[in-house]
Amino acid sequence: MSSDDISTLPAIMSNGESSASAVHPVAVGSKVTVVLGAQWGDEGKGKVVDLLAQDADIVCRCQGGNNAGHTVVVDSIEYDFHLLPSGIINPKVTAFIGNGVVIHLPGLFEEAEKNLKKGQGLAGWEKRLTISDRAHIVFDFHQAADGIQEQQRQEQAGKNLGTTKKGIGPVYSSKAARSGLRMCDLVSDFNEFSKRFEVLAKQYKSMYPSLEINIEGELGKLKEYADKVKPMVKDGVYFIHEALHGTPKKILVEGANAALLDIDFGTYPFVTSSNCTAGGVCTGLGIPPQSIGDVYGVVKAYTTRVGIGAFPTEQDNEIGDILQTRGHEFGVTTGRRRRCGWLDLVLLRYAHMINGFTALALTKLDILDVFSDIKVGVSYKLDGVKIPHFPANQEVLNRVEVEYETLPGWKSDTSNARTLDDLPENAKKYVHFIEEALGVNIKWIGVGKSRESMIQCF
Ligand code: GDP
Ligand code: IMO
Ligand code: MG
Repeated sequence: MSSDDISTLPAIMSNGESSASAVHPVAVGSKVTVVLGAQWGDEGKGKVVDLLAQDADIVCRCQGGNNAGHTVVVDSIEYDFHLLPSGIINPKVTAFIGNGVVIHLPGLFEEAEKNLKKGQGLAGWEKRLTISDRAHIVFDFHQAADGIQEQQRQEQAGKNLGTTKKGIGPVYSSKAARSGLRMCDLVSDFNEFSKRFEVLAKQYKSMYPSLEINIEGELGKLKEYADKVKPMVKDGVYFIHEALHGTPKKILVEGANAALLDIDFGTYPFVTSSNCTAGGVCTGLGIPPQSIGDVYGVVKAYTTRVGIGAFPTEQDNEIGDILQTRGHEFGVTTGRRRRCGWLDLVLLRYAHMINGFTALALTKLDILDVFSDIKVGVSYKLDGVKIPHFPANQEVLNRVEVEYETLPGWKSDTSNARTLDDLPENAKKYVHFIEEALGVNIKWIGVGKSRESMIQCF
């Protein structure tokens, strides 16, 4: 073992305890509270996490990379998070990036710098961030390859996936192919890391000859990042185990991307490359299932999607335009216009089957304030016959006929509502309709961007 390896060992070992005695045999301890996107992303997870993080000790990311874009608005300052858990904006919070996350180091530092300039929230972030040593590293060539793959898809199949070009598909491919490099490799023996980096870079160069990779130059930059990031890198399994079993702590997990973008359960192939559903919490942090507590689903009061893929309730018309404009529906990561449509209960029922939501946060209800009638997709028909499931195949999903229920709108401003009783009757009916259809309670209702614009129902 090189002396460098010490930094990745659990901190607790330095205070004399042996690692064996520090493993807690009874797996009860604290439980993590999970916040997950229930649609195609951008439901407002950042805002819900910010709310829950007010009294949290640790906020974790367990999957995805800087393809995510989470907005938090505090005192009229808009922060955007991609790789850093949004909860880091609370100075009392320790942030944790788990093994399931993929890390682009330049992106991480740029994000921190950008948010540091906006306000006080990120003060001391380096000291409050722990990164799992098992997390994989996204290299610049992964991002470049993402772009080339998109171009090739366009040329070969006439359409691409509409990825964020953050290298997500390529880096998870390297991970699955067992040629990826992890944070533990970066902060241990840099010579060994350099050799493996060279092999991987050459593999990419042979797969994509147009890729230009300056191996020496890249390694020079990576060495600098290694020195900067080293104090943050710890054994992630040990870190989270201690967090769960030490003095009771409130631990939050911030999902990125969303159920319908999940690599297994999403609208494949128009998905991301990680598990954005509940299972990703265990595999992405290294915790047992019994450590999972409440799982909150975040649901936008209508549906949006960035990028390509089937979207049964899409309104490619004036209604969609109103939702897009009122909701400022532009991607936080790519600035792309989000496609918009009515709420889809079939899709939400499917997301609930997979995640088992304890309760929901219904966001952006205020965006519906102007409609006289509001439609909700309640079932799918295929060739005239109602189907009980959410189709796996994209061509089939493209063919489903959505059956809608029409609810009366409320045509009044909800943005100042702070209690359920402040909402107009028809808005309450809309909320109850969703609860009944899904069999899950709505615990919070979002009526604006700011931290205060949230109704707590119970
Ligand atoms: P995330 O990726 O799930 O965290 O969501 P994004 O941040 O990508 O997109 C959600 C957008 O909606 C952000 O601009 C939020 O500031 C905004 N937002 C969140 N909740 C509400 C709400 O209840 N009402 C309104 N009007 N905007 C909201
Ligand atoms: P948050 O966490 C919305 C979409 C991309 C693309 C597909 C694959 O902000 O909700 P990728 O770069 O992951 O390979 O792209 O997934 N996508 C998202 N859409 N919100 C996100 O994250 C997304 N993360 C990925 O637009 O269609
Ligand atoms: Mg987003």
